[in-house]
Amino acid sequence: MDGSGSLDRWYDICALEDIPVRGSRRVGHAGGTIGVFRTAGQKVFAADNKCPHRGGPLSEGIVHDSAVTCPLHGWVFDLETGAARGADEGCLKTYPVEVREDGRIWIRLPAC
Ligand code: FES
Repeated sequence: MDGSGSLDRWYDICALEDIPVRGSRRVGHAGGTIGVFRTAGQKVFAADNKCPHRGGPLSEGIVHDSAVTCPLHGWVFDLETGAARGADEGCLKTYPVEVREDGRIWIRLPAC
């Protein structure tokens, strides 16, 4: 525990340089697969990798500003909120991530 009373834990997943700019990386966990996305502005976000439309792999989508476009049918999801943009529907679960001083990316997930 981290002292907040939560059973969530922080996990070191990779270095920032391991994810290309405007690219992503997949991280497996007990609940499925998470996409970790790096934007052109050097922000990092984490969200479920499975598109709520028909399950497209969002980590293979196009990262632009703070959003990702699904590679299958082009739905766009805001990576800060997880919400679909525009006329698209649905919402991704998002996860807290942080880039620490040593350049490592950490993600907070429910403890297994
Ligand atoms: S599966 Fe993602 S937009 Fe259709």
